Amino acid sequence: MYNAFFGFSESPFSLSPDPAFFYRSERHEEALANLVYGVQARKGFIVLSGEVGTGKTTMLECLRDYLEANFIEFAFLFNSRINVEQFFEMIAYDLDLPCSRTSKTEVLFALNTLLVEQAQDGKTVVLIVDEAHNLEWEVLEEIRLLGNLENRNGKLLQIVLAGQPELDRKLDAPNLRQLKQRVVLRCNLTPFALREAVEYIDSRMSRVGMPDQQVFSEELMSEIHLRAQGIPRVINGVCDNMLLTAFAMETKVCTVEMLDEVCRDMRLDWPGSRRSRMRAETQESFERAPYKV
Ligand SMILES: Nc1ncnc2c1ncn2[C@@H]1O[C@H](COP(=O)(O)OP(=O)(O)OP(=O)(O)O)[C@@H](O)[C@H]1O
Ligand SMILES: [Mg+2]
Repeated sequence: MYNAFFGFSESPFSLSPDPAFFYRSERHEEALANLVYGVQARKGFIVLSGEVGTGKTTMLECLRDYLEANFIEFAFLFNSRINVEQFFEMIAYDLDLPCSRTSKTEVLFALNTLLVEQAQDGKTVVLIVDEAHNLEWEVLEEIRLLGNLENRNGKLLQIVLAGQPELDRKLDAPNLRQLKQRVVLRCNLTPFALREAVEYIDSRMSRVGMPDQQVFSEELMSEIHLRAQGIPRVINGVCDNMLLTAFAMETKVCTVEMLDEVCRDMRLDWPGSRRSRMRAETQESFERAPYKV
C-alpha cells in the first residue's frame, strides 16, 4: 500500500519466511552453518529450537535453498499435527517415492531403496520437520526408527527437527530418551541484540531499495528493539504498521508518537510498559488482599 510512496520495490517487513531477506545475526549464521554441516557430515539428528517468531521457518527455507542448489533430495513437513499414516504419506509424496503412499510397508521399502541408491552415489537424503513440538509421540517414535538407518559412512537419512522450546522439553521426557541420545547437533535461535535489530531493520530497508534509510532513526530503532524484545516477527509487525501510519500522515519519517500508537493497537507488552506495570500492580493487590472464606 505504501510501497510507491516510499519508493520500495516490495514490502520490507512482510511476515513471510522469505530467505531473500535473511539477515545473518551471529546466532542465525551459526545455526545455518550447523544445519548445513550436520547434513553434509551425515550426523543424523539435528534439533533447531527457538522462541516464537525468532526465525526457525525462515532458516529452514534457507536450508531448503541450499539442498535444492546441491541437488540433495529432501522431504519438508510443515504440518506436524499428523498421525503416523499421514506422516508416511507426506514423506512418500515429497520424495516422490514409487509406491502406494497409503501403505506404510511400501513407503518404508521405497524409502530404503532411495536412501541406499543415494548413498551409493555419495549423496544423502534429508527429512525436515517444522513445528516439531506438536508431533505426536507415535510419530516421533517412527522418526527415531528412520534415524537408525545407516551404513559405514554415516546416517542414510538426515533429520532436522525444528520447534519452539517445548520441543527440547518434549525430548527430555523419559520415553524419548533414545531419540534425545541420538541428537548430535543442537542449534538455538535467540532474539536479536540491539545492534543486530538495527542492522536487521537497515538490511530489510536496503533490500527493497533504500540503502541509507532515514525513516527510522537510531533512537527509534533502539525503542523498537526494546518494545519488540528483539523478536524479528514483532519488529516486522511494528515497522510495517509504522510505515503505514507515516504513509497516512504523508511523512517519510517515523516518530516515537507513531510507535506509541502502533504498540497500543498491537497491544504490545514489554518490560516497563504501562500494561506490564498495571498487570504487576493488579497481581500485587490481589496477593495483598485478605483471604476471604
Ligand atoms: N534472520 C532473519 N532474517 C530475516 N528475517 C527474519 C529472520 N528471522 C526472522 N525473520 C522474519 O521474522 C518473521 C518470523 O520468522 P519465522 O516465521 O521464521 O519464525 P519462527 O521461529 O518460525 O516462528 P514460529 O515459532 O511462530 O513458527 C518472518 O517474517 C521472517 O521473515
Ligand atoms: Mg515457524
